[in-house]
Amino acid sequence: MKKKIVVIPGDGIGGEITDAAVKVLKKTAAIYHLDLSLDQKMAGGTAYDACGDPLPKETVEAAQNADAVLFGAVGGDKWDNVDPLKRPEKAVLGLRKALGLYVNLRPVHVSPVLAPYSPLKPDIVTGTDVLIVRELIGGIYFGDRCESEIHDGVERAWDLENYSVPEVERISRFAFKAAQGRRKKVTSVDKSNVLATSRLWRRTVTKEHKAYPDVALNHMYVDNCAMQLVMNPGQFDVILTENMFGDILSDEASMITGSIGMLSSASMNESKFGLYEPSHGSAPDIAGKDMANPIATILSAAMLLRYSFDLDREADAVEKAVQAVLTQGYRTGDIMSEGCTKVGTCKMGDLIAERIG
Ligand code: IPM
Ligand code: MG
Repeated sequence: MKKKIVVIPGDGIGGEITDAAVKVLKKTAAIYHLDLSLDQKMAGGTAYDACGDPLPKETVEAAQNADAVLFGAVGGDKWDNVDPLKRPEKAVLGLRKALGLYVNLRPVHVSPVLAPYSPLKPDIVTGTDVLIVRELIGGIYFGDRCESEIHDGVERAWDLENYSVPEVERISRFAFKAAQGRRKKVTSVDKSNVLATSRLWRRTVTKEHKAYPDVALNHMYVDNCAMQLVMNPGQFDVILTENMFGDILSDEASMITGSIGMLSSASMNESKFGLYEPSHGSAPDIAGKDMANPIATILSAAMLLRYSFDLDREADAVEKAVQAVLTQGYRTGDIMSEGCTKVGTCKMGDLIAERIG
């Protein structure tokens, strides 16, 4: 079985972390006799600098013709003042839209070896196992917006939040099905005490739930959820939420694990095609210094094997290799603590690759 993966490093630490993940994928392919082709393409600020477009047509076409995409990260202060339509973030948003990637999965799992390093008390975080199911191509991210307009001599800007019933239905179905394979509980997060879109969201989720009587459903306001996540993360199984709330809550949830450098992510469409990327950003301040934690990207590569290629055994092998390296005390700077061995991005990738199979 030949599989085509397009690798898009992007900006900042993107190159270093995707290099580490590619090393792990190549080792996995060698051990398990997989025929993977890996083709690298440009996107983000780097692409903007090279050709004036953060998402070149060639990159979109390559992604459309691939079986999966491994993505690094995009963005950086350097591009803060470019035309908003050419910002590096347009690359990842444009790819999500072009590929119809409506579901974003962000698993937050606290492994016993890392529980002591969470900024929260170990007894609060131990055993945390949450799957965030974030709607990815709707809501305020993709609504109409106006950068600037003048009314009665006053300048304003606006962004429109907008959801349709079918958009909420399909993401709800995904969340309920995911919960069936887990602890059978969905918490739908909204702000229905204020927003019309959230009231439509809540109504629609409640209606879809009727087809999944084996799954428990509760609703929670987003502000309360932000608090509950740090107070009692163990209460959550699947968190189902809209695009922007999911963006914010997933960053918050990642810190439960000790570092955002650990949080992987999968974005998928109806035909199992996926784009896999760490949940964190491009960290321009540490780019090129061999300091970034590549684990989120490596775990994203494991999700790629599992979800797009149905290679559970190979995905397990990658996840086990990550656990082995952590158990043996190797750490990048972000998760470093006394008595552990500090390693760089490249070395961390090597150590994980060595432990495959
Ligand atoms: C994420 C990122 C992106 C988002 C940015 C880079 C556009 O923060 O994947 O969480 O907001 O979705
Ligand atoms: Mg984010």
